[in-house]
Amino acid sequence: MNVFRSITPVRETLNELFASDPTRADRYVGRLGELRIDWSRQPVNDDVLRDLRMVARKAGLSDRFSALMSGAVSNVTEGRRVLHSALRAPSDRVIDVDGHNVVADVHAVLNAMSTFAARIRSDERITDIVNIGIGGSDLGPAMAAQALQAYRHPRLRAHFVSNVDGADLARVLAEVRPESTLFIVVSKTFTTIETLTNARTARTWLVSALGESAVRDHFVAVSTAEEKVVEFGIDPASMFGFWEWVGGRYSVWSAVGLSLMVLIGGDAFRELLAGGHDVDEHMRLTLVEHDRLDDNIVVTLAMIGVLHRNVLERTSKAVLPYAQELARFPAYLQQLDMESNGKRVTERGEPVDGATGPIIWGEPGTNGQHAFYQLLHQGTDVVPVDFIGFARPHHDLDGHHDLLMANLFAQAQALAFGRASATETHRHFPGDRPSTLILAPQLTPRVLGQLIAMYEHLVYVQGVIWGIDSFDQWGVELGKELATGLAPLLAGESVNKSSPTVDPATAAAVQWYRDHRTMPS
Ligand code: F6P
Repeated sequence: MNVFRSITPVRETLNELFASDPTRADRYVGRLGELRIDWSRQPVNDDVLRDLRMVARKAGLSDRFSALMSGAVSNVTEGRRVLHSALRAPSDRVIDVDGHNVVADVHAVLNAMSTFAARIRSDERITDIVNIGIGGSDLGPAMAAQALQAYRHPRLRAHFVSNVDGADLARVLAEVRPESTLFIVVSKTFTTIETLTNARTARTWLVSALGESAVRDHFVAVSTAEEKVVEFGIDPASMFGFWEWVGGRYSVWSAVGLSLMVLIGGDAFRELLAGGHDVDEHMRLTLVEHDRLDDNIVVTLAMIGVLHRNVLERTSKAVLPYAQELARFPAYLQQLDMESNGKRVTERGEPVDGATGPIIWGEPGTNGQHAFYQLLHQGTDVVPVDFIGFARPHHDLDGHHDLLMANLFAQAQALAFGRASATETHRHFPGDRPSTLILAPQLTPRVLGQLIAMYEHLVYVQGVIWGIDSFDQWGVELGKELATGLAPLLAGESVNKSSPTVDPATAAAVQWYRDHRTMPS
């Protein structure tokens, strides 16, 4: 039987739930580090929460989590351990993998990164850092560099180049000068075509201005694949390593965060790690030490997500930060959640029993209010929302922040409680639209670490419930393979419509492209 049938959804609307139990505004709120998390506007009561936690218990969540944290092969389809939590463990922790303490390795790299970051930060000749990477080798550092811009070194500007579209790199090269730019090439595998193409072009640009010898001072690499880094032409002494057990979308805590560390400094970067560790500790204490699912806030949020997806059949979730600095946070979460839980078969390769990961999307408030909130309020789809806001901004412009936060609180209220209009249907706000409200005193490195780790664990909990491997990403392979096969055709090789790898529609599109690409504009 589908386990989700054991969950009986509430019949009452949010208006009715609050009317019958005003204490839910206090009871359905929890603290996770500095985060105040409020799920009172979610369609749950004590009975539904009990049912949801029972599903989590039956899935063996505490044992699964314990195994994950102690280095079991939790990425089964790739046969890998999943130990990103070790990246934010304090130096006196021991996480033993095959008789070896990986925390010691982590801190050795962190120390090397700190020394390097301090050197660059005090080197007046360097003004610009260009991070070249894609997916997890871009989104984490790019998102965090923007989120923590208030902490950035005043002389340093960070740029992030990811797209193989030359427009991305060309834009950055037009803004920087070879003699004052540091390129950080980030790729776990060092085989990713977008990253290698951008890195080669950047290298040629640098060498044509300063000569081959400049590569040593202006290029560093972050990777797990030393021999490929060397093949590319970067000295292994200029490489920062990490490990197979760090998944790309979980890697911002590792050397993948080097550009961020150079920008905000070693101490602030360690605060980010401490924030991640705060959440790891919450998970460990509640699940591993005490097996108390009820006290685990991340499990509560994850299971509310399961309620939306598997019982109420909601297909998407919006993440709406009321902080301009978090503009890239929804994009970051898209990879974290959709690459992890966008799966249709279980770990064992059988079809899943019900829906899996939702579509994640969002934009900062208040901009979104003037774009897509109409659908959130009156559309035919109900979209669960995560609102994120902060008590104190990093600027001192009078009046703005109260207005921003008033909008956040107003939106959560309007969605939940609506406003009836008996006479004009188009002015009727139905309400009963769910949201979670996440607040923190300020967007500091530690708070950002807590936010990221909270979502990481939420995604994992849901993956366990759905029985999928949240740590592989086979779904991105086919497109890569086909693009590699098509590239020579675009460059001039003859298009063979009967080729088994090129379907007729693609062959016709390629032919059109070849006919048009050399035409004068
Ligand atoms: O998109 C697939 C993917 O493998 C991501 O999981 C990863 O973050 C990205 O490509 C980049 O990979 P790499 O760091 O190896 O260049």
